[in-house]
Amino acid sequence: MVTLPGTTHLAQTPAQLADSAAQWITHLSAESIRQRGRFVFGLSGGSTPQLLYQRLALEPYASQIDWYNWWCFFGDERACPPTDAQSNYHAAKIHLFDKVAIDRNNIFRMRAESDDLNAAAAAYAGHLEAVLGIPPEIDCLLLGVGTDGHTASLFPRSAALKVNDRWCTRGRAPKPPLDRITLTFRTINAARHVGFLVSGREKQKALQRVAAGTVPAARVRPQSGELHWFLDPAAAGA
Ligand code: 6PG
Repeated sequence: MVTLPGTTHLAQTPAQLADSAAQWITHLSAESIRQRGRFVFGLSGGSTPQLLYQRLALEPYASQIDWYNWWCFFGDERACPPTDAQSNYHAAKIHLFDKVAIDRNNIFRMRAESDDLNAAAAAYAGHLEAVLGIPPEIDCLLLGVGTDGHTASLFPRSAALKVNDRWCTRGRAPKPPLDRITLTFRTINAARHVGFLVSGREKQKALQRVAAGTVPAARVRPQSGELHWFLDPAAAGA
């Protein structure tokens, strides 16, 4: 089984993986709201977290969570309309936002459909600073890992990997949608809690490369926050 920095939570099935992460998020939400009056949640894109979003909108989590004090940001977004099935915002909207009482004014979408991605990334950085301060500290940031070891839209050999003077930047994927907006490692590593959700045998080699430090996801090392991995046995090589 792969050895990763931080805390690893092994779940036998996708449903158990979603429940394990949902329990963790519910706890962090209550703690953050008790300590700071709000919970700042950073959503991951891709397919893995969709079951988790669905679970959070159901019992026993939905009635435990103080949705009105949630503030939502995104780890990355693809260059497509927010109504497109490939949009990370779209997935979060249909699986979570449309089902719970999060104040729509507290949901910050990355406008990656913009013709000027640099301006859109700068505008998003402005939202992060205006709402969260400097550095923008996300209470709980969800991330995934691609089979190539990318996370958010920080892809191997891409220019975004070298951007350390901004909170978010444009990204470039090797597969469509090619253009992206992504948080930088600077923002990711300022988070109080980071949780990776990774499942499936096709991710096993990528996790081994994370452990070896040879892929972008290996650079996620929260400066003072906690790092958690929610894995199934297939991805973990257990
Ligand atoms: C995206 C994601 C990306 C994702 C990984 C894993 O926009 O694609 O932010 O980083 O988390 O590619 O995706 P899956 O969960 O679909 O395997």
